[in-house]
Amino acid sequence: MTAIPLKSAPPPWTDRQRFLAACRCEVVDRPPVWLMRQAGRALPEYRQLKEKYTFVQLVQNPELAVEVTLQPVRRFGFDAAILFSDILVIPEALGQKYHFKETGGVQMDFTVRSPADIAALSVERVVERLNYVDRALRLLRRELGDRTALIGFSGSPWTLATFMMEGASVPKYSRALQLFREDPKTYYALAEKLTDAVTVYLQMQIAAGVDAVQLFDSHGGHLDPGEFPEASGRWMKEIIARIRTPAPASSGDLLCAGGAALVPGIPPVIVFSLGTHGNWSDLVGTGASVLGIDWQTSLAEARRQIPERVGLQGNLAPALICESTPEGVAREAHSILESMRGRAGHIFNLGHGLTPGAKLENIAALVDTVKNHR
Ligand code: CP3
Repeated sequence: MTAIPLKSAPPPWTDRQRFLAACRCEVVDRPPVWLMRQAGRALPEYRQLKEKYTFVQLVQNPELAVEVTLQPVRRFGFDAAILFSDILVIPEALGQKYHFKETGGVQMDFTVRSPADIAALSVERVVERLNYVDRALRLLRRELGDRTALIGFSGSPWTLATFMMEGASVPKYSRALQLFREDPKTYYALAEKLTDAVTVYLQMQIAAGVDAVQLFDSHGGHLDPGEFPEASGRWMKEIIARIRTPAPASSGDLLCAGGAALVPGIPPVIVFSLGTHGNWSDLVGTGASVLGIDWQTSLAEARRQIPERVGLQGNLAPALICESTPEGVAREAHSILESMRGRAGHIFNLGHGLTPGAKLENIAALVDTVKNHR
């Protein structure tokens, strides 16, 4: 009997390959999964480190930041790791220090209010001051190899401005909105500086080997839809355009970092703008490769309205992870997966970040459900 040569099966996807292919809207075996704020907060191994170190110490020490980044990947087997850090490292690198209050929430050393305060922010040293991020990312890239994707991030200029102008977490972020409405020229001066800072920061992360970057526009929904383009969208668009502009030949490592990408060497950009309720055209207009969809919107409906070339990330309600059971979480995750069946470019995530009350068995049930989905 002559043996029929078996056609060799395609090699199984690594988690990193699956994540990158989904960002490019290619067909994959199942959606990749990671969760916003997966690093820290809910994990007992993180809380243990918090007994010895402050949050800022963990963020600024590359070895410890690597450890906290890897903890959720080890425990749950996510397809992607997100750097353990915070959006507030940008204000800090511009000269506005922060810490977290014992009672919860952020406290910055001063507020940015006047044109003089804005003029005093210094973009020149951002990359140097954030060298600890560069070191953490390079260690992570080496540690993760081709197995797991690595995501870098920054706050959007608008969302950073809301924190910088209040100087703390507050119930209502009104000062940036007031400045934008009453004195747009001064707001633009701040947004321009933040755009410059975020651009060089993300370029540094790309050179260090991240596979994708996410812009967190967590306060995008505080704007009226008519205000969104000028206050937030325009600046994210500028950042994305600039990081996609090939660097001059001398900075070759910018071009070959990160492996597969939309344009070789230039990683996908995920834009997550919370509470913008179907304001898709402005978000698509930023040039994002992937849009994060919050839990208040139907993912399937978003898929119908957003061009096929743009991937979608989301969108299980984070409250379910705290309040439901593993069965309840599995049911809801399954329903989201089914609503996206046959649609390429879905990255499973929550519709906003994990909170400290997240139940570990619910996270495990979510990851299992996505991983077993075919
Ligand atoms: O996603 C990840 O796991 C990566 C790490 C990460 C953190 N913050 C760690 C963190 C990321 C991506 C962020 C982003 C961030 N930080 C955002 C945008 C995303 C979002 O959730 O909307 C914002 C608005 C911040 C600012 C911030 N950080 C505030 C207001 C607070 C205090 C209140 C809170 O939510 O806990 C933080 C704290 C923070 N950032 C913690 C962690 C692990 C908790 C610190 C602790 O108590 O241990």
